[in-house]
Amino acid sequence: MRTYGCQMNEHDSERIAGLLETDGLEEAESFDDADVIVLNTCCIRENADNKLYGQLGNLKKLKEERPDLQIAVGGCLAQKDRDVIQERAPHVDVVFGTHNVGRATDLLDQARVSGPVTEIIEESASFPSALPVKRDANHAAWVTIQIGCDNSCAFCIVPSVRGKEISRPYSELVSEVEQLALTGVTEITLLGQNVNSYGRDLTLKLRGTELTAEACQLVGENWVRGPHTARPLFSDLLCSVAAVSGIRRVRYTSPHPKDFRPETIAAMARVPEVCEHLHLPLQSGSDKILSAMHRGYTADRYIQKVVAARDEIPDLALSTDIIVGFPGETDLDFERTLEVAAEVRFDNAYTFVYSPRPGTEAAESLEQAVPAKTSADRMERLRKVIERTSLKGNESRVGREEEVIVEGHSKRDNGMLSGRTRHNRLVHFPADRVIRPGSYAQVRVTEARTFNLIGELVEVTAKAKHRTRIPVVSS
Ligand code: 5AD
Ligand code: SF4
Repeated sequence: MRTYGCQMNEHDSERIAGLLETDGLEEAESFDDADVIVLNTCCIRENADNKLYGQLGNLKKLKEERPDLQIAVGGCLAQKDRDVIQERAPHVDVVFGTHNVGRATDLLDQARVSGPVTEIIEESASFPSALPVKRDANHAAWVTIQIGCDNSCAFCIVPSVRGKEISRPYSELVSEVEQLALTGVTEITLLGQNVNSYGRDLTLKLRGTELTAEACQLVGENWVRGPHTARPLFSDLLCSVAAVSGIRRVRYTSPHPKDFRPETIAAMARVPEVCEHLHLPLQSGSDKILSAMHRGYTADRYIQKVVAARDEIPDLALSTDIIVGFPGETDLDFERTLEVAAEVRFDNAYTFVYSPRPGTEAAESLEQAVPAKTSADRMERLRKVIERTSLKGNESRVGREEEVIVEGHSKRDNGMLSGRTRHNRLVHFPADRVIRPGSYAQVRVTEARTFNLIGELVEVTAKAKHRTRIPVVSS
């Protein structure tokens, strides 16, 4: 399996890997040892196409040497490019889209008998979460709460490849988390393109019907019995998931600033399991650009939401996504982004150079394109601002004790262990004793770096208790 792109894609890959394992396959060390190669693609930014065709070019030789090798391409780029893939790379056996990951193994079987197959469907009949899963970590799991997106940000291809927003029934989500907790998972990350609009489609389904037990299953007891807000509140879902026995940490990504509600802030402040980390994509600090992006908020409104969150959650870590070089972005617009970033003091930011995506509104504004060199310079300046606030945030942790989940040995130094704090900061500390990944430990921070912390172990507070991997299949 090779995965490109976001957590949603990684989670889809876990499901595809789960299916392949159920089919009797096991993970190979490298492409050279593999009988089946699955590339799970992403198309959110440019170059994905080039990378994929480059990769497929490399695999051609392997396929010629071993005709039995099967190559499958799935994910967003497959959804977007469909027939083009087999045209450009006829040695690909299977092309499948974002809505039929559950068909991956069937399609591989079919291709073995009757030759190359492309199957892309426009809308999902079911959620990938209803499939078996093979997770990388045993202690942490992603739970998809909604797929697709009903927004229309001018730069974004997601709505056209992931489809309209569909929420999973409330009780199904809670049962999935209960099942996960039974296998020893202690950390849950709720995933969606716009988590705060969770449930909008569910309440529409209930219009004109009696609010019975069935409705409780769909939208949760709280919504049915409580005051009728437009949809079940994401904050209720946070609370229900956090209340599951054995769950110690709940995270979520991503809320849209325009839909980020006081109730969510209140739940984060009140419920100890919900980590005090907020990923709130800013995209730009210029009101002109935000409006051209159709983001539905101004920079001031964004700042107000951050202030409101910090008022209630004083020790809040904040991260974001920012795009530079959106069509029409002037030096002045970019200066606003720098100002807002400096004012908000992000602990971390994913920064992207704007890349035109076919079919999106912004891709039509060719005459307003920002030269690549200008974007690269802006990126560099933005990176410096983010690194400064990130280092400051890390420095403020020195001397404190932090709870970490141990992830294993540090990738760079086998003598060190790495753990994640509730803020999602990575801490490296000397591995002077064996600690199983997934265990909780208190670590004293001794040194701050721009992207991580150094610390020393105080004590292990909870040993990892996950059992052997059990595939989770929800009904
Ligand atoms: N160009 C650059 N960045 C993009 N993103 C989404 N679409 C584009 C694009 N066309 C970024 C946004 C989003 C993140 C997941 O990817 O910042 O929040
Ligand atoms: Fe794309 Fe905007 Fe939807 Fe996020 S909210 S997935 S950026 S359209």
